[in-house]
Amino acid sequence: MRATCLKFFVITQLLIFCINCAPRKHRIREGLADSRQSILHNTIRRLSRRIQHPGISSNVAKLDAYLESFGYLRQTHFGPAHHSELARTHAIRKYQKFNHLPVTGKLDDETRWKMHQPRCGLPDVTSSSRSIRGMRSLAPGTPFFWEKKNLSWRTINFSSDLTPEQQTNTFTQAFKYWSDVTELDFEETSSGKADIEILFGKYNHGDGSNNAFDGNGGTLAHAFLPENGGVHFDDDELWTENSREGTNLKIIATHELGHALGLQHSDKKDSVMTPYYQGYKNNFELSIDDVQDIQAIYGEKIHEEESTEETQGRHKPDICSTSFDTILFSGDNKTYVFNDKWVWRLSNKGVKRSYPKLTRKLFNRPPNSPRSAVFSSKTRRTYFFKDNRVWRYSGNTMESGFPRRLTGDMTKPDAALTDRNGNILLIKNNRVYKLNERTFHVDSNSVLLTEQWQGLPAIKDVRAAMRYNGRYLYFFTEETYTTYDEQDERVIPVYPNTVKHLLGCI
Ligand SMILES: *[C@@H]1O[C@H](CO)[C@@H](O)[C@H](O)[C@H]1NC(C)=O
Ligand SMILES: *[C@@H]1O[C@H](CO)[C@@H](O)[C@H](O)[C@H]1NC(C)=O
Ligand SMILES: *[C@@H]1O[C@H](CO)[C@@H](O)[C@H](O)[C@H]1NC(C)=O
Repeated sequence: MRATCLKFFVITQLLIFCINCAPRKHRIREGLADSRQSILHNTIRRLSRRIQHPGISSNVAKLDAYLESFGYLRQTHFGPAHHSELARTHAIRKYQKFNHLPVTGKLDDETRWKMHQPRCGLPDVTSSSRSIRGMRSLAPGTPFFWEKKNLSWRTINFSSDLTPEQQTNTFTQAFKYWSDVTELDFEETSSGKADIEILFGKYNHGDGSNNAFDGNGGTLAHAFLPENGGVHFDDDELWTENSREGTNLKIIATHELGHALGLQHSDKKDSVMTPYYQGYKNNFELSIDDVQDIQAIYGEKIHEEESTEETQGRHKPDICSTSFDTILFSGDNKTYVFNDKWVWRLSNKGVKRSYPKLTRKLFNRPPNSPRSAVFSSKTRRTYFFKDNRVWRYSGNTMESGFPRRLTGDMTKPDAALTDRNGNILLIKNNRVYKLNERTFHVDSNSVLLTEQWQGLPAIKDVRAAMRYNGRYLYFFTEETYTTYDEQDERVIPVYPNTVKHLLGCI
């Protein structure tokens, strides 16, 4: 009994301590085991991290430790090798899937080879129930981000492989990849505390034994998620520029800065956020996914010309010569049509004269080309959906923690509207799904549009939908729309029912 209490006390102390120091994953386990076991774990872990050391295969404990390190297996109180065969197989499958290997669930040669490749020290999979590195405890899918957009950075110390000037130049370039596509702004400082602090260290370099580097090979670098700002490189690597030898500092720095800005590992093959070092690239660039991911957190870069576009009236698109992305019946009973980064307001006779406006004049940090949009009269929130993300607004202010990811089998809705009670419904391939507005999970149960709304004819390729003045539902295809009276459960005949007419183009 006393022992239990003591253990509990130790755990609590560790947790409290760790909220401030924000170290890595293994803190809880450390507190649990007795010291002998703890030492054993750390030894195994360190061995497993020295993945140039052969024989992961021969040692289940090392395999488990590796899978635990990178988030594929949960850590247990008992340490590695205490996982069931089933859990291990499942974890290997997940690892293989993430890393584009044949999914066998077995530690085959290809998988073993991959595990010996140099990589980033951060996990690939983050558990939904646990906060990452003790920073904040957030719901799964909630992004980590810096509140401010101008961040200072400083190099605490340098590698001896390149000159300090070369390294400063490299880091400046690495920051520029991210600031070129977002509103982020980075400034180097030479003294004092900076937001992002870069250093080179060997083995235990001051952030705990669990974060120790592992000599040459294996873990190359790691960084802490916002708002910590620590970016650490393993000083036992050979850091190079413009060379196929060693490890390219610029590519790894861009990856680690991605973490420091809030990105996690990506399973997209050409993303800079893949966990393994892909080798030297002569003309290294961010992938489209990287750009979209960072823009989802910090918004897109606003170019000077763009800011004046609206006042000068140049480049303003004509809704009649383009198509629309989505339509929204808003909280103030107005109808808006979106295309690219522009919005039009609809009147009884086509679009209002003072439009289009830039969407970001109405909503802060909106997505470009939203796929669907909906206002819920129940929560009085406006939602935008694009790819597998959702943006939520209270008035025109994006709420904290957004945009975030949708989870479930259907995460890219074609259209969104509410049911009569204000609950969000999503439409994909003419089926209707329910959105859980608390967890942002989309239930896989779905019904056909014609089952959801009696008397509605089958409509092919619904691309937008809205509830108008409570009672009327509009379903849009590329060129036509259908108006449905929910109260009377019947379609209201409208002629001509073309989108062009509605927009006042004809
Ligand atoms: C960032 O912006 C804020 C407010 O605009 C300003 O007070 C601060 O000095 C800026 N910091 C840097 C590092 O530029
Ligand atoms: C850089 O700083 C870290 C952390 O203080 C330290 O562990 C490391 O030894 C330093 N490296 C060099 C090359 O001075
Ligand atoms: C919108 O319309 C509803 C009923 O149709 C009304 O109750 C509400 O006050 C209106 N809101 C605004 C902002 O005009």
